[in-house]
Amino acid sequence: MNNKILVISGTVSPKDKSYSIALTNKFIEAYQKNNPNDELIYLDLNDTKMAKITLTRENMQQYFNQEDALDYIKQLKEVNKVIISSPMNNFAVSAMIKNYLDHILLANETFSYKYSKKGDAKGLLDHLSVQILTTQGAPIGWYPFGDHTAYLKGTFEFVGAKINEPICFAGTKVDPISSMNPIEAINTIEAKIVEIANKF
Ligand SMILES: Cc1cc2nc3c(=O)[nH]c(=O)nc-3n(C[C@H](O)[C@H](O)[C@H](O)COP(=O)(O)O)c2cc1C
Repeated sequence: MNNKILVISGTVSPKDKSYSIALTNKFIEAYQKNNPNDELIYLDLNDTKMAKITLTRENMQQYFNQEDALDYIKQLKEVNKVIISSPMNNFAVSAMIKNYLDHILLANETFSYKYSKKGDAKGLLDHLSVQILTTQGAPIGWYPFGDHTAYLKGTFEFVGAKINEPICFAGTKVDPISSMNPIEAINTIEAKIVEIANKF
């Protein structure tokens, strides 16, 4: 069976200067060696209206509309794998990734409390395998309170998805990575990317 993969990007960097885009491209290159016929669907959140809309008191009633929420939930139900990339922006995922998640995390659509026994939610996206690819300016451990990688992992586990080992490319703002262009920088972890792509 050929997989359908939704590739979600939430960086605010120019495409040729983005470490998360370089990481995603390298991951896909490795993945496609094993799965040449899989279908890739690209969702750059910069190109969407939805990812620019923040939930507020004023728009709460219209927020989960067909175009901005239900169509994106349908898209998640029509694929079987997701690759999601996000930089760290102020200790968290980018605002576009947060807005995307705010639209698709909808009770009875992507999770349900109805059938749960322990008071925990039941994830309704349990057909999905998810690869998380993150970047951050600081090396791992500088800001333990801001773990966007763990946040994405926990969120997709909440909706029932199976998570492949996440890749966090850290330290892009410090030497030696900061003096390399994104492609050179990502090449320094090529072996790890290939190893993890082989398991996805
Ligand atoms: C608005 C903004 C906020 C940022 N906040 C943080 C941060 O809190 N911690 C951090 O380590 N890096 C932070 N960075 C640096 C980015 O995480 C880093 O440049 C990363 O490589 C960006 O990924 P990208 O190249 O794919 O855009 C921030 C960058 C921007 C533009």
